[in-house]
Amino acid sequence: MAQVETGVAGVSFELSPEQRELRALAREFADKEIRPKAAEYDEHSTHPVDVIAKAHELGLMNLHVPESLGGIGLPSFDGMLVGEELNRGCSGIGTSIGANGLGAAPVLIAGTEEQKEQWLPPLLEEPILCSFGLSEPDAGSDVARMKSTAVRQGDSYILNGSKTFITNAGYAAWTVVFAKTDPSKGHRGISAFIVPMNTPGVQIEKHLDKMGQRSTDTSAFGLTDVVVSAENRLGEEGEGFKIAMKTLDFTRPGTAAGAVGVAQAAFEHAVEYAKERVTFDVPIAMHQGVNFMIADMATEIEAARLLVWQSAWLHDQGKRATLQSSFAKRFAADTAMKVTTDAVQVFGGYGYIKEYPVEKLMRDAKLFQIYEGTSQIQRLVIAKEIFLPRDED
Ligand code: CAA
Repeated sequence: MAQVETGVAGVSFELSPEQRELRALAREFADKEIRPKAAEYDEHSTHPVDVIAKAHELGLMNLHVPESLGGIGLPSFDGMLVGEELNRGCSGIGTSIGANGLGAAPVLIAGTEEQKEQWLPPLLEEPILCSFGLSEPDAGSDVARMKSTAVRQGDSYILNGSKTFITNAGYAAWTVVFAKTDPSKGHRGISAFIVPMNTPGVQIEKHLDKMGQRSTDTSAFGLTDVVVSAENRLGEEGEGFKIAMKTLDFTRPGTAAGAVGVAQAAFEHAVEYAKERVTFDVPIAMHQGVNFMIADMATEIEAARLLVWQSAWLHDQGKRATLQSSFAKRFAADTAMKVTTDAVQVFGGYGYIKEYPVEKLMRDAKLFQIYEGTSQIQRLVIAKEIFLPRDED
């Protein structure tokens, strides 16, 4: 279902030479720069500032910023290839590197030319971060219930509220913050604003201590009388909800690719271990109970990867891919959880010990079933697309 070459609408499973090269570059980077640090950064919950800087230098960040703004303007498909490889190295570090894609997407989707020129090229010049401020303490899955407000005052808005579970917010130069400009209108009263994180009144409240993906910063922050220029509003007042939904349609294939990367890593470890570990006089790979697990892992990873490829390919055809993005995100996240759990099982007692790599992968996998829309929310989106299909986007 993937295109052979960028911009070609043909259907093929073969990558172009450029795509193979890009994937090899990302794989090498993951093997050399990410994997060796994964366990230590996980243990200490270290923000991977050094790896981010190297990824930036190599051009493995901000992949979708268009050439007209100085970027490389890669299609969604190519970005997804990179995402799988970086997350195969470590999804904590991979998410830290990839999260600029989520922060920048609303600007790409809804920004004016001036806004794009102001906010996106600086991301290319140095390894600065941006983030996506949607979730709140009382509104995660149910975006329309958010309580943050933005009140217009002359040429500015005054923002108040709190955001939580925001990837990279603790280190971000700016965040796209969603807040209600008209609380009486539900989802139609939400607007989006680019908020520099050094604006007075923005306060990082907590670096959240997570189970997995521990080297990614996930922070909560408060907004107290934060003055933001009206020039920083993305789209019109009331368009914030749809901007958020379109952003997630665009980013979920990349996140799903990350889940495939984690599953792939667990699979590779399980295969190697199954060949080495001997019980009842044969390598455990010879036992049907183990090799059926390995066969299922391989099959489900391949199926997840194909859904990811299809959803990214659809985006690159300029088509709305809400349904396929949720197929990919739901299936890849659940596959990562199942495959990493089974990998721990293949390792037996050793799988449960931190000295071996698979327990980390199992902890890391869990987050894919939660962030960028839980697996249950993906099912809800899929069911809505089946029963209440939307024509417009
Ligand atoms: N594209 C464009 N428009 C869309 C859309 C889409 N994909 N999905 C919905 N809409 C439109 C609908 O057409 C409808 O439009 P009208 O106002 O014209 O009627 C409007 O948006 C409302 O749609 P729904 O009635 O479907 O909205 P809902 O309130 O029932 O919620 C939801 C839908 C899918 C559950 C949504 O709330 C959702 O996606 N929730 C999950 C949020 C999420 O993924 N959060 C993760 C945050 S990011 C993260 O985790 C990473 C990080 O860094 C923290």
